[in-house]
Amino acid sequence: MKRKLIGPFSQLLPLSHLPLKGSLKDEDIKIITDGGIIVNEARIERVGKFKDLNDGAIPVERVHQPTVAIPGLIDAHTHICYAGSRAQDYALRNSGKTYLEIAKSGGGIWDTVTKTRNASIEHLEDLIIARGKKMLLQGITTLEVKSGYGLSVPEELKMLKAIKAVAPKLKQNLVTTCLAAHMLPKDYKGNGYEYLDEIATHLLPTLQVENLAQRVDAFVEESAFSPEEITPYLKKAKALGFDITVHADQFTTGGSKVGVALGAISVDHLEASTQKEIEHIAKSNTVAVALPGASLGLGCKFTPARKLLDAGAVLAIASDYNPGSAPMGNLMVQASILGTFEKLSNAEIFAALTYRAAAALNLKFYGSLAVGYYADLALYPTDDYREITYQQGQMLPHGIIKHGEKIAF
Ligand code: NIG
Ligand code: FE
Repeated sequence: MKRKLIGPFSQLLPLSHLPLKGSLKDEDIKIITDGGIIVNEARIERVGKFKDLNDGAIPVERVHQPTVAIPGLIDAHTHICYAGSRAQDYALRNSGKTYLEIAKSGGGIWDTVTKTRNASIEHLEDLIIARGKKMLLQGITTLEVKSGYGLSVPEELKMLKAIKAVAPKLKQNLVTTCLAAHMLPKDYKGNGYEYLDEIATHLLPTLQVENLAQRVDAFVEESAFSPEEITPYLKKAKALGFDITVHADQFTTGGSKVGVALGAISVDHLEASTQKEIEHIAKSNTVAVALPGASLGLGCKFTPARKLLDAGAVLAIASDYNPGSAPMGNLMVQASILGTFEKLSNAEIFAALTYRAAAALNLKFYGSLAVGYYADLALYPTDDYREITYQQGQMLPHGIIKHGEKIAF
């Protein structure tokens, strides 16, 4: 059906016309009660009161009552292309070892690299599909996926090809990121500069030719790459036309400074950021991405989300779904918990999961329910949107609309 009216929604939250940067109050949210939306093909044609849009001529697709409709959630940071488990790391951390100590002794990311290298591309595809489907049921209609457990030209290509192959099989839009700079591979005969130069020379151009990734990420940390090592690499990636993003300030600072200086679209983690880093990020247009799943997984402090918003930063929240630090993969649970600890308003949480997350991916026409935007909606079985965070993510959507089509009810 080309053109149709969907509704009536007990509450429709367009989350449009809200500021990109800084703090938000719940009163800032425009709520359309008994709302409706006219979709034409994949895009939104009109948003308003259902009765005003229902002219008798347009076909109507009715929804369950009650229903709260919000923009489909956008998870702007995941590592769902991986094989194996890191249950061993969980046990080791709880017996007193730190993430960095485990990484140094050969566990951590390297453990998953070994398991992912040993997996066939078909097995990786099945794993991404299973995880993607699970996320769809949470209302996630756009999903970023990183490589980063291959750490050689052929193995990174294998991961990125697996992600490309599953894209038509998942209902979400996938945004793919090359994270070949996740750590210096233990089997590489050379230093960090040499490894990164090899990736920049022999992998990044191929990704463009084969359309395998639009973005380049790097882990700037003691166990990974220093700001000095990463700078020439990210400059080359940027010169090739990639958007850049950085795993920054997770345990030690340095990453956010280099990310902002190089015009990164986002700097993600920031658990260790101090007031100096917070203000630096807030002055820039770089999106700060909080990853509460990693804090919960590692038992570390949360990203200073409240301070970032009060300083005027753009704050997105993502799951960081990965086998090491964030195996839960439940974005709304994590965002609700971050909200509790960081004293975030509902407006700030929902913005961070929708239009501000779209900004973290440099995605246009996603994340708000506005005319011309893609009709991606998550529908919840309630008449009060605040129930979603109050119930700490336990309330799942009872429907999803992707590009104007109902895809799960
Ligand atoms: O975002 N911090 C680095 N990378 C991932 C963890 C990856 C892993 O431990 O396997 C993260 O938390
Ligand atoms: Fe991550």
